[in-house]
Amino acid sequence: MPSATSPFEPVAAVWTSTEGSMAQQTAITRWPNIVQGMIDDVEKTAATAGPLQQDTARTIVLCLSKMKNEIVKDQAMSPLNTAYGRDIGGFNTLLAEGQNYTWHASPWLFAECYMYRRVATIFAASSDPFWQKYDVFKRQKDETFAKSRNAVEELAMRYINVTDKVEFASSPNWTEEEKMLFLEMTQVALWGNATDLSLLSNLSLDQIQGLQGAEAILKSRKNIVDDDTEDVWKYLSSTPSADRRIDIVLDNAGFEFFTDVVYAAYLLRSGIAQCIKFHVKDMPWFVSDATPDDVDSLFQHLDNHEIFPDRRYLDPLVRQLREYFETGKMSIRQHPFWTTAHSFHVMETEGAGIFRSLCSSSLVIFKGDLNYRKLTRDGLWPHTTPFAEAIGPLGKGSGLKILALRTNKADVCVGLESEEHVARLEHEAPGSAWVRNGKYAVISFSDGR
Ligand code: F6P
Ligand code: MG
Repeated sequence: MPSATSPFEPVAAVWTSTEGSMAQQTAITRWPNIVQGMIDDVEKTAATAGPLQQDTARTIVLCLSKMKNEIVKDQAMSPLNTAYGRDIGGFNTLLAEGQNYTWHASPWLFAECYMYRRVATIFAASSDPFWQKYDVFKRQKDETFAKSRNAVEELAMRYINVTDKVEFASSPNWTEEEKMLFLEMTQVALWGNATDLSLLSNLSLDQIQGLQGAEAILKSRKNIVDDDTEDVWKYLSSTPSADRRIDIVLDNAGFEFFTDVVYAAYLLRSGIAQCIKFHVKDMPWFVSDATPDDVDSLFQHLDNHEIFPDRRYLDPLVRQLREYFETGKMSIRQHPFWTTAHSFHVMETEGAGIFRSLCSSSLVIFKGDLNYRKLTRDGLWPHTTPFAEAIGPLGKGSGLKILALRTNKADVCVGLESEEHVARLEHEAPGSAWVRNGKYAVISFSDGR
């Protein structure tokens, strides 16, 4: 049974058995669909592959079907094979501690991470190197990015116009115009998160394009239910920026990652930061999360004249981005902690290396819903709980500057100013839709003091 277990865990985490939760809905309906999507993808790839690959694909399909069946029938979750990674022991320990977790009666965060980790072991177990390296979500990631043409070209134009025209002052003499630009660019990176494939994969081209672009962003401002952008600006504009490093713990590949690199380029170009480190996942994760290969894919797509025919702004932008990567002003980092099932409350012990590294960053930006769930321990906090409190050890007194840019797609959401605000939102989007449907968002900041 879900329960709060210690004074440091004052609220229970959401379970897949929590009545009426997004977690429950996910376990019962969304996971079987997501796994079926994986089966379809493998079969599609196998159909045009050689006989050996078709043969090995059958084993993968069998294993995925077995897992889907276990989910549908709410069976026990079984230990993972430790041969496929040093991190797997951690999953098995959590599973053993849970004693009798089943798919529909386990902590949502654990169960969902377990599912994606198990998928990775299914591919790793293949005797065929082709399938061992196969990203079962690549087709979806690529196809969706190719549908983002309008927003990509529009954002490229905005970036080039801004960076050509604005004379960026040096800190601390930043102007009101520069502040407004910071607010705008932060929102671009925020709403880039609205096109997460695990939630929105059935959208039409028009619907996807409706979620992107300047107009959509402007309209969505009122839907930011906790907005600390002013505080972030105050912090950035009142502290020295000469050696400032900003870390971005990425979420999704494709359009969202594009908005992240544009945001990062703006932070560098404006002098707000001197160096950006992007953190990616080690393996295919939560359908659309960015892996190292997705970084290469981004550039391949951006270079593709068929997908993005209007080159006026894209070419100079891509040149600039390449230069940032080549000179090390932007770089990619990996750490196995990001694909564990742990909440970030235990980062200091379970991800000591990455924790130490983030301690020397001037600002750590966590993108997306899953990172937010991990920051808040997927806890069912009252919505008015201050963000700095919900992030536990990473909050007050940690010294860490944490910024979460997240569109709301789960059960947890904190940082609201009052119960009246919560009631207004419930009225506007009943049944907690405002916490779940991806149309509302948070820009939450903790200054670590
Ligand atoms: O709630 C929907 C969901 O698929 C969750 O399973 C997961 O937390 C999230 O969306 C992934 O979204 P994001 O890509 O923003 O982390
Ligand atoms: Mg994601």
